[in-house]
Amino acid sequence: MISIVGSGRVGASVAFLCVSNGLDDVLLVNRNKDKAIGEALDIASAIPANSEFSIRGTDDYSQLSGSDIVVITASVGVYMKDRTENMELQVKMIKEIAQKIKRHCPFAIFLIVSNPLDVLTYFFQKESNVPRFKVIGIASSLDTSRFRYCISETLSVPQSSISNALVLGEHGDSMVPVFSGVLVGGNPLFSMIDSRESITEDVRSYWKKLRNFKSRSQFGIAKNTFDVIDSILHKKEISIPASVVLEGEYGENDVSMGVPVKIDQNGIFEIQKVKLDDIESSSLKKSSEKIRNYIQSIHT
Ligand code: 2OP
Repeated sequence: MISIVGSGRVGASVAFLCVSNGLDDVLLVNRNKDKAIGEALDIASAIPANSEFSIRGTDDYSQLSGSDIVVITASVGVYMKDRTENMELQVKMIKEIAQKIKRHCPFAIFLIVSNPLDVLTYFFQKESNVPRFKVIGIASSLDTSRFRYCISETLSVPQSSISNALVLGEHGDSMVPVFSGVLVGGNPLFSMIDSRESITEDVRSYWKKLRNFKSRSQFGIAKNTFDVIDSILHKKEISIPASVVLEGEYGENDVSMGVPVKIDQNGIFEIQKVKLDDIESSSLKKSSEKIRNYIQSIHT
């Protein structure tokens, strides 16, 4: 069973993808029970006729018992300018969720989607005491999708011609697009652009631009989350960047941030080492320091 805590736009979109693709039973959990039931009733009409699975809505955490995967998209409110705006309250929320979940499905794989992503991934893992490779923050793969899109728009090339695009570090303004390995049609991206600044800015400010037109992002993160659920349930390995609590990898401790990982049916099984140039290495260091400072500033 896939349980989704938070049935706002993102949670409902993840649920829709899982249900319409006949992945597994889905439980939508919301502190507002009516909202969870309403979304579940709507999405239930998208169950394929040949599917053996269904969807339900609830506000009762005991129903999470038996979950294989728990996705957390819950939020205490809307942030307008920065993903860290409600950080103290979000951390309080994730700790409460971790406590409840620990009682009912301690052996699930947890996908954290709520913001600030890296900070919440860190605190969920610490509070729940779930092994760190079973707590996966989903965001750097979304940032990577945006990086690919920005390269494709800048160069007027299809995304299919772009390989090795990767974004690491914070899911926030200090995220680090890794340009040095990117190939476009087999040629280094660096041979086609004058500098990395403009694409970096486009990728970092992507969601702020989106918000000028639409109140919140929804589909990109939903698809990136769905892909991870699909790979776990179908036992297909996937390589993506994701946030995970680090214990020495990339020279980091006491922080969670986006790094390249391999995921299979048991969660993360490897943190991969990628080659970074000097600019990328020092940007990644700054990014981890920023997240660590946020973590250390929390007093809830
Ligand atoms: C996004 O990047 C807001 O984190 C969300 O779309």
